[in-house]
Amino acid sequence: MIRRHFSCPGPISYTLSLVLLQVLAACSPSPPLIPPGTVPIDLDKPAPDALLTYWLTPYLDPPRDPFTAGIVYEVGGDFFLGPEDSLRSRAPGLLPLLDQPSINWESFTAFLQNTWHTAAGHPERVDGWMQRAGNWRESEGWIRIPVKGSMSPFVRIVSVKESAVVAALSERARGGILQYPEGTLFAADHMNEGQIVETTIMWKRGPGKWDYASYDGGGRLAIEVFKEPKPLQSPVQCLGCHTGNRAFEPERSFPASASDGPDGARYIDVDDASRDATVTALLNEHLQRSDTILGLYATIYLSRVRSRVLSGRGTPADSLLLTQQGIPITSDAS
Ligand code: HEC
Repeated sequence: MIRRHFSCPGPISYTLSLVLLQVLAACSPSPPLIPPGTVPIDLDKPAPDALLTYWLTPYLDPPRDPFTAGIVYEVGGDFFLGPEDSLRSRAPGLLPLLDQPSINWESFTAFLQNTWHTAAGHPERVDGWMQRAGNWRESEGWIRIPVKGSMSPFVRIVSVKESAVVAALSERARGGILQYPEGTLFAADHMNEGQIVETTIMWKRGPGKWDYASYDGGGRLAIEVFKEPKPLQSPVQCLGCHTGNRAFEPERSFPASASDGPDGARYIDVDDASRDATVTALLNEHLQRSDTILGLYATIYLSRVRSRVLSGRGTPADSLLLTQQGIPITSDAS
């Protein structure tokens, strides 16, 4: 990302060539200008510009790219936050970050852990998400999939609205990738002995951007979720697996069963009608990781549709849906 902080003059008539030479001498090899009053940011992570954009956007009012808003600068590959006046008028919530000689990953994430959810307007209680997106535990129209995998030692019941999966599939049918509409919510209730002990949320803030939030068993906003040997810090450690390209079990082996992991069996608890190998291979949903979603929601949804069609219980709309996705509507053997 290249940001210009000053520009050298454009074409100037020959009568001014002397002036031009002097100006060029002053501006060609000179070191890049570091905006005065800013604090250096050294996150020591890959793609620091993407990270800064992701994490700082919600602090701006209205939320926007902190680079184009003029509160974060890149100069010769180094990053700077400030100055104070700009923060005061555009992102006052970030002012405490200027109280240090430089910002590193540790001080940055400690700050985010304390302030990010408030800046992003996330509910203090898990019910707030139900008011925003519907009751994933009880309402009709939600797909609920129990999975025991790599993110948590607990069984998680992951819920998403069926209409959001259908919309993501329409996007794919139009030649795009599986992409969920803005405002889509994924909620994962982590279960221990029949009780919800944690809930993790992904909420689609904008194109390609998901917010993460976690809640404890009492439904209160939490800054960590249970994991051994160390808890997962929420939200700062949520991006890693979701935006990386590692494959996880049990999604990697689906529809075959996965081997046991450090916390015992790993599985997706769905019936045979939800495990179509042809659909799984065609969508390749887990590895494609379109939209940073790791579960197999579209795969399971289409497997169920195909199972209905193959057993003669499908509607014309079911067949059309499969055809639009390039999925055969006759059995693989025929
Ligand atoms: C160790 C890797 C890892 C980390 C770190 C991680 N996740 Fe996940 N997450 C997964 C995997 C794998 C799935 C797919 C479902 C499953 O296997 O549990 C998933 C699924 C989800 C889902 C359901 C939507 C989807 O992508 O399938 C939500 C919601 C979610 N995670 C929230 C979070 C939150 C909140 C955090 C931070 C506290 C987080 N995740 C951190 C691996 C991770």
